[in-house]
Amino acid sequence: MLLDVAPQSSAARRGRDKRSAAPITGARRRERSRLGQGPVPGVHVPVLARELVDALEVRPGQTAVDCTFGGGGHARMVADKLGPTGTLVAIDRDPAAERCFEALAEQAPCSVRFIRRSYLEALEQLAAEGARVDLVYFDLGMSSMQLDEGGRGFSYSHDECLDMRMDPTQELSALGIINSFDQQGLATLMREFGEERHAGAIARAIVRQRARAPIQTTLDLVATINSAIPAPARFASGHPAKRVFQALRIAVNDELGQLDGALPAAWNLLRPGGVLAAIAFHSLEDRRVKRFMTDRARGCICPPELPVCACGRTPEAVLRSRRAIVASAPELASNPRSASARLRAARKLAVSAAEPAS
Ligand SMILES: C[S@@+](CC[C@H](N)C(=O)[O-])C[C@H]1O[C@@H](n2cnc3c(N)ncnc32)[C@H](O)[C@@H]1O
Repeated sequence: MLLDVAPQSSAARRGRDKRSAAPITGARRRERSRLGQGPVPGVHVPVLARELVDALEVRPGQTAVDCTFGGGGHARMVADKLGPTGTLVAIDRDPAAERCFEALAEQAPCSVRFIRRSYLEALEQLAAEGARVDLVYFDLGMSSMQLDEGGRGFSYSHDECLDMRMDPTQELSALGIINSFDQQGLATLMREFGEERHAGAIARAIVRQRARAPIQTTLDLVATINSAIPAPARFASGHPAKRVFQALRIAVNDELGQLDGALPAAWNLLRPGGVLAAIAFHSLEDRRVKRFMTDRARGCICPPELPVCACGRTPEAVLRSRRAIVASAPELASNPRSASARLRAARKLAVSAAEPAS
């Protein structure tokens, strides 16, 4: 496989690692944890990290694809297990992730490569190159860096331009959606991607507000949402803008369309015996991952009244666990973001004599 980053010995890379922020980050994180303050803002603490590495069963010499590199927390752990004969392909559409990758590339013991594209495009690119890989994994959603980095517009806690693009070169932003979608389109988006109960009232308030002046910042939008929902909902558990912000982020980044296309693309790249894993943070994603994996793990689909199988279908996958894997109590205590995380994984079986499992 061609590498964008030339492989270097790990000793050579470590010798040049004076600029790496990793040790400082670790110390700061431990200090915050000692003080009971939780994760440092802007530092992405990987969720279900040990569980992901266990589910993948990473072995030396394998080729792994991290579809959502972010700060590289999961990738670092996977790279360590791949060792000098392994290869890690990292994908992310955010240029901030590419900067994090440069730090990892200095230290990783394995060959590394970064593709800055959407994971759907990157997986298609790998397929076109004829790549076959052993492990593919996703850690869906946004990173803490995206949430906390000034100016990205993902957070309802800072006053920023309504942006929410993971890839800053793409045209569609949250500002465009909020100020151009009609009332019906806004309501549907908030209902479908945010499961927002007050979608109709919020859409009406947005249209009314923007007739007076464009809604430009995150806090303009928060104020409009607050004006539309009944007082008890404003003080119910969770931030009142949480679901609308989730819906906008999903729409801006086409997160569900990407996932629907990427799951089969990732599956096709896997060699028999390879593992696909995904960590989802809300039911819209988790349902898709679960359905994709259980469909592949299902054998005969004949009606039960048929005495013998007529469909001839055999399972393509074995689920690594029957239920989704969730965060342990210590992880929940130290990282609240892990509360909604669901990890699922499936191993690909050899489906034809032409492709025996390795
Ligand atoms: C939850 S973070 C991953 C964090 C990472 N596992 C870590 O340990 O640091 C998700 C990352 O996936 C990226 N991402 C989300 N959807 C993407 C897509 N469709 N294509 C490429 N990257 C995507 C985001 O830009 C973000 O950096």
